[in-house]
Amino acid sequence: MLTDRYDNKLSTSSQTARDLYVKAVDRLISADAYMEQGFQAAIDADAGFALAYSGLARARQLSGNPTGARDAMRVAQELSEKLPTQESAHIHVMSLLIYGKMQEAYKAIRAHAAQYPRDVMIAQICTSVFGLIGFSGQPGREAELLAYTTSLAPHYGNDWWFLSMHAFSYLETGQTTRGTELIDQSLAIRPRNANAAHIKAHVHYETGETKAGTAYLENWLRDYDRAGLLHGHMSWHVALWALEQGDTDRMWQMVDDNVIPGVALGLPINIVTDTASILYRAELMGETVAPERWAQISTYAKQFFPKTGIGFVDVHAALAHAMAGDSDALENIRTTAAGPAADLVGEFAQAYGAIAQQNWAEATAHLTVAMADHARIGGSRAQRDLLEYSLLQTLLKQDRADEAKRLLALRRPVQAGTHPVHGM
Ligand SMILES: [Fe+2]
Repeated sequence: MLTDRYDNKLSTSSQTARDLYVKAVDRLISADAYMEQGFQAAIDADAGFALAYSGLARARQLSGNPTGARDAMRVAQELSEKLPTQESAHIHVMSLLIYGKMQEAYKAIRAHAAQYPRDVMIAQICTSVFGLIGFSGQPGREAELLAYTTSLAPHYGNDWWFLSMHAFSYLETGQTTRGTELIDQSLAIRPRNANAAHIKAHVHYETGETKAGTAYLENWLRDYDRAGLLHGHMSWHVALWALEQGDTDRMWQMVDDNVIPGVALGLPINIVTDTASILYRAELMGETVAPERWAQISTYAKQFFPKTGIGFVDVHAALAHAMAGDSDALENIRTTAAGPAADLVGEFAQAYGAIAQQNWAEATAHLTVAMADHARIGGSRAQRDLLEYSLLQTLLKQDRADEAKRLLALRRPVQAGTHPVHGM
């Protein structure tokens, strides 16, 4: 029987379909462009290849096409009846995810990954910053991610994908040295892995290596297709570093060419969060942001996320609405906040509302409540520095500079040498 690169058996008798499937999986776990086409090519080589349809469903989901994902998933399920146990379980677990049954999917994925740890298409769903653990909204989710990838470690050896995911788990729990070792190992095996290059950028961020990070990422991005899943977000990293170095022309160029609605080809979740984030990080640095920019991202957020429920999006949307002066949209987020991090979303929504009114004391009070465990809203440490620096700004506005400096040194020591907020 044919197997994939991780030795999982594949129910296809076509060597060509198998090879194309393996390539498609590698493309997906590298966050490469044209993931869907990869799985479609495998299907074209064997129209009865159930796992290729399941892969297509996942690729479509990651590309922001939930309807297409469900269509492909239905075909996979129809084909799954006579499959061996592991493949049939793979399709069942994937279907829970594709149909949006997240609680069930999470439990089923953990059980499947424990039984078949090298079934990478299932195992990867819980890894990374936007995975099911990352977005669980639960206290301790960063430690849980490290525990999860640690449980996979004995089964993956020197695999480039696994090393990159494990590196990120270490990095986000503050174990920067170990994270650096692992990401360098991963990139040495496969340099053109966007997930790994993105994590390398986080290593540079978490070690305060702004110039080295910029040089690495700008060079890496040159050969990355604009349609790649992480293109917009990696451009956000470059923009942030340009801002930090005072090169605002470069910052706006990166933003206007790669990050904002209408130009970015990535997912709406990245477009909303990265745009709102860079606009406010720019304001915090004393840069003037045109009101039309806030209006654009506020409108986009309402269009693509009419309902609350993803805390990480909701907080950034609340920021955009507050800065755009859309009090109805802001109030809607505060009053309808849903999911395990709803309490934090409410606090941040009120904080940004108060900031927009220049009510710095009230904003400080709401941010202080939310600061204890803002990891629950999701996102990386680098992304959540937006929240840290928002609090510093409200303190500076109240002539509490000493407190702001102490807070930065205490909570983000590696960034203490930088000046993330104007007037610090
Ligand atoms: Fe990032």
